[in-house]
Amino acid sequence: MKAAVFRRAHEPLSIETVTVDKPQEREVLVRTAATGVCHSDLHYVDGDLPARSHPMVMGHEGSGVVEAVGSAVTTVKPGDHVVACLSGFCGACPQCLSGHPNLCATRFVSRPNSATPRLSQNGEPLIPFADVGSYAEQMLLHENSLVKIDPEIPLDRAALVGCGVLTGVGAALRTSGLQAGQTVAVFGCGGVGLSIIQGSRIGGASRIIAVDHIAAKLERAHSLGATDCINSSEGNAVEQLRAITGGRGVDHAFEAVGLPVLIRQAVESLAIGGTATIVGVPPDGSIIEFPFSAIRPECKVQTSRMGSNRFRMDIPTYLDFYRQGRLNLDDMVSKRGKLEDVNEAFRAMKAGEVARTVLTFD
Ligand SMILES: NC(=O)c1ccc[n+]([C@@H]2O[C@H](COP(=O)([O-])OP(=O)(O)OC[C@H]3O[C@@H](n4cnc5c(N)ncnc54)[C@H](O)[C@@H]3O)[C@@H](O)[C@H]2O)c1
Ligand SMILES: [Zn+2]
Ligand SMILES: [Zn+2]
Repeated sequence: MKAAVFRRAHEPLSIETVTVDKPQEREVLVRTAATGVCHSDLHYVDGDLPARSHPMVMGHEGSGVVEAVGSAVTTVKPGDHVVACLSGFCGACPQCLSGHPNLCATRFVSRPNSATPRLSQNGEPLIPFADVGSYAEQMLLHENSLVKIDPEIPLDRAALVGCGVLTGVGAALRTSGLQAGQTVAVFGCGGVGLSIIQGSRIGGASRIIAVDHIAAKLERAHSLGATDCINSSEGNAVEQLRAITGGRGVDHAFEAVGLPVLIRQAVESLAIGGTATIVGVPPDGSIIEFPFSAIRPECKVQTSRMGSNRFRMDIPTYLDFYRQGRLNLDDMVSKRGKLEDVNEAFRAMKAGEVARTVLTFD
């Protein structure tokens, strides 16, 4: 099969022929239909996050149709439509058992290093990124990295719910503690930030202030539910936000870029007792500093890992929101392409031209 391979940072992914093994026991072979291009892949390509030693098949926001299953698979069968998620879970560790399978760190869904690799090239192993590897014509995954979805949902839109939408909607509805009527600010209006805006709208936020440095991003944010927009290229975003809120600040601020300076601004935007939720992933080794005086009384700062998901429940729920017209996925797809267009999708993402690029397979 064809796949987009990462060998080292600062080089484009190369489209290569890769051998995929047969599904063993609880594994599922999926014919990829679509994959979103998330900024987390770009962090590795740009060298902001350190990569593991072996070459990797990148991509982690994929959907498709089950082709074959291992002998012990019970949750899906050939022909089922599925969405993959990097929050593969074991179901038995303290995090899983306490209702936080998104924090499972057992690597239960990986094949052991001693086993035949899932992906290889002339006998050399390739790592499927995040145990998914969706920039490829086929994905071989543990069944606990997959959820079956309604076959009537278009697979290109469903793919986005595997990471960006799950993360953003979940950050608002599941991590943050947002209550109906509270006020929200979202720093960064890419695929994840737009999903936080939509999650905040669904959760009943009274005011949703979008912050970005690109005007077109703010237009899309407004159409998806932001009530106010701040263009941070036109002056200090925190001062503008305080002016909009009559000096009070917001109950919830979300950072969805991964820049220490914006994490600090999110904290500085809070009202008394507010909560900052960091969703963006800053470059490896980043240090986040705030003057103590910038933190208002009883404010909280927390991170969100993949929208605090229990994805087997949350992905179908968020797709229900889509079917009901409450979650707009159609306008989240702003560019389309084929596997060969993956490096162009990264360029467009860096240039701030897209909400999300979706790559589709024949
Ligand atoms: N916590 C998680 O589980 C999780 C999951 C998925 C993605 N992420 C992270 O979320 C972040 C966003 O991902 P994405 O796919 O939405 O990326 P994206 O590139 O689509 O969006 C980033 C947005 O930030 C804006 N931006 C960039 N620099 C800015 C600045 N200085 N001031 C204001 N706005 C600025 C861009 O214009 C763009 O709209 C990434 O760091 C990604 O790795 C985290
Ligand atoms: Zn992602
Ligand atoms: Zn676990």
